Amino acid sequence: MRKGGLGAFFFAALALLSPVDAQAPRPETGVTAVPLGLPPLPIPPASPALIALGRALFFDTRLSANDTMSCGLCHLPEDGYSENQTARAVGIYGATLKRHPPSLYNVVYQTLLFWDGRETALETQIFSPLLAADEMGMPSAGFLLARIDSIPAYHEAFRIIFGAPPSLDRLGAAIAAFERSLLCGNSPFDRWFYGHDPRALDAAAIRGFTVFTGKGGCSACHRVGRDDALFTDGALHDTGLAYAERQRAARERPGAMVVLGGGLESRIDPVALGIGVRDSADLGRFAITHDPRDRDAFKTPSLRDVAELAPYMHDGSLPDLAAVIDFYDRGGGGSPTQDRRIFPRHFTPGEKADLLAFLAALSCAPR
Ligand code: HEC
Ligand code: HEC
Repeated sequence: MRKGGLGAFFFAALALLSPVDAQAPRPETGVTAVPLGLPPLPIPPASPALIALGRALFFDTRLSANDTMSCGLCHLPEDGYSENQTARAVGIYGATLKRHPPSLYNVVYQTLLFWDGRETALETQIFSPLLAADEMGMPSAGFLLARIDSIPAYHEAFRIIFGAPPSLDRLGAAIAAFERSLLCGNSPFDRWFYGHDPRALDAAAIRGFTVFTGKGGCSACHRVGRDDALFTDGALHDTGLAYAERQRAARERPGAMVVLGGGLESRIDPVALGIGVRDSADLGRFAITHDPRDRDAFKTPSLRDVAELAPYMHDGSLPDLAAVIDFYDRGGGGSPTQDRRIFPRHFTPGEKADLLAFLAALSCAPR
């Protein structure tokens, strides 16, 4: 009896804790079976109570320095757990960040996190936004834990679920449990390809799938398997986008080019080196590994729910899917170091329209 009473209090308290959450779509939580088209879960799902706690924390602005920012304000459920309003995310006090928030759908399958793959576990990833001065701005881990424990419903919830107060590990476990419950599958494509329903996809999208896996060469990186598809290889590649962006920025702000001196200008292209346009230079994985082969390499994003994820790419620089298709049609950014599988495709207008129809057929549906 006592246990049931506490449990009821706990869920009522959690419901009160997350007003934003009341509008969020709910079907993903408490998942036991995966939606059609997704691989088996790499780890068993967490308990509904842990997921509910993580969900409350995810949408709670009290986890930010001035009570204005939450995970869910940059990863919005209605925007596919990404964000449609701005190219690059805007953090606490209005600071513009370097990159666009990736969708959190199917993050349970990701082994490398962030566009540059610098983080490897959801449990530790959370401290990056929570403690970054320009994201959620919490001054320290200890301050954050004390703030959470001072909120009665969390104080109670941590003791019920873990038998212990909030800690870095427990906070990470709760938020990660919620993130791992965000699954996106059972799209029209899945029902056609894996569900063998010939009516699930229209003729244009079916032709688009042929372009995607054939002439377009897209599935080399955005993988589609025989039994399931994540539409990513989980690896990092240079599409030439960062190079093209640096060139554009240099054209727009020629005064920003640094003079290398010593006659170096004549032998080195500062744009290709990513120097001279300080504000916009994002060298991707290179900044993590310092290996020249990683220059401009970014993680292949999944394409599930992609129609809901505009704007696109690590910097949100491409406004819509037509612009992404044009980018690949041109042969990517045209960087001398870009992946050799990205080259001009010379799509016909019909092929572009079909590819678009196919990408639109990847939107997730309730199971
Ligand atoms: C101010 C906006 C903002 C807030 C707040 C924010 N994020 Fe993010 N998130 C981003 C951006 C931008 C990236 C990409 C950063 C990069 O690649 O360097 C990202 C990346 C991620 C990733 C990596 C996903 C992948 O597939 O690589 C995860 C997971 C994530 N965020 C979870 C969270 C959680 C959990 C919180 C709250 C504790 C949070 N985010 C708060 C903007 C935000
Ligand atoms: C060599 C690997 C590779 C190939 C081939 C490839 N992509 Fe990509 N794709 C990537 C990478 C890496 C990114 C992220 C680039 C960035 O953000 O700088 C990306 C980004 C995207 C995005 C943006 C998704 C988002 O959420 O921002 C879309 C859409 C996309 N690709 C579609 C396609 C299509 C369509 C094709 C075929 C015409 C294709 N890709 C071919 C690796 C590849």
